[in-house]
Amino acid sequence: MEELLKELVEKNRKFAINGNVANYIPELDKADKNALGIYVTTLDGQEFFAGDYNTKFTIQSISKIISLMLAILDNGEEYVFSKVGMEPSGDPFNSIRKLETSSRKKPYNPMINAGAIAVASMIKGKNEKERFARLLDFAKLITEDDSLDINYKIYCGESDTGFRNFSMAYFLKGEGIIEGNVNEALSVYFKQCSIEGTAKTISTLGKFLANDGVLSNGERILSTRMAKIIKTLMVTCGMYDSSGEFAVKVGIPSKSGVGGGICSVVPGKMGIGVYGPSLDKKGNSLAGVHLLADLSEELSLNIF
Ligand code: DON
Repeated sequence: MEELLKELVEKNRKFAINGNVANYIPELDKADKNALGIYVTTLDGQEFFAGDYNTKFTIQSISKIISLMLAILDNGEEYVFSKVGMEPSGDPFNSIRKLETSSRKKPYNPMINAGAIAVASMIKGKNEKERFARLLDFAKLITEDDSLDINYKIYCGESDTGFRNFSMAYFLKGEGIIEGNVNEALSVYFKQCSIEGTAKTISTLGKFLANDGVLSNGERILSTRMAKIIKTLMVTCGMYDSSGEFAVKVGIPSKSGVGGGICSVVPGKMGIGVYGPSLDKKGNSLAGVHLLADLSEELSLNIF
């Protein structure tokens, strides 16, 4: 397995040249464009890795699945989906337009920024500090990584430049989708995007979902139904407006982030964490998607 991973990393590294690292947030552009790494964690406890698997990066939108789990645990499925939809938007992750023009009057899904900010507003706690602390603790629990923390420089960059996010959040407050303090919701959202980890961190997260919401020690955290909801939304919305093409080419529930990470879930088998910061136009890791397509083919991991 390790040989196969090594071979596929070296084969697919070349695709990075055709993309770009995210630069709309200061600090994200410091990543090495040619980096590519993978970490595989199987349900029976084996771990395999290759390439730049140990490089730290911010998990960005991959955090949206973590906050969604906690928001559902805090508020129940019915409440969460009364505020946020379950449909792919077909628009870029930071798009504003459907918020007002669509008749549904709520963000299309929890994986686009508008939906994720609404979800962040639902995390329980007496103030922003406590809410984010609860979210970080939950992230530590399910990634089985106690050292998890935020990259403070990136957090500052997110909140200093996130003007579209501010406008969407205030719009959502005006519509009654965000019920609490709008600035606190934004702050939780910016911090969750700035959580820093490695390919191993998101591989373990993938394994947790592959294991139906059960930790390595056997403790069940999510109900089977909740784990299903998260995996389904990863298939339909996890790769933004590339989700359909990714499902056809790779066929593995996955969630990407503009830091270059992709968290993939092979139900009943393994979690896969990929890191490759050179992104395609939709914001997904370019070499990372190619790498996953090859691995899916080689190991017959396509869930369809
Ligand atoms: O909201 C933002 O600007 C980002 N921090 C979103 C993170 C992300 O990964 C979105 N896309 N892949």
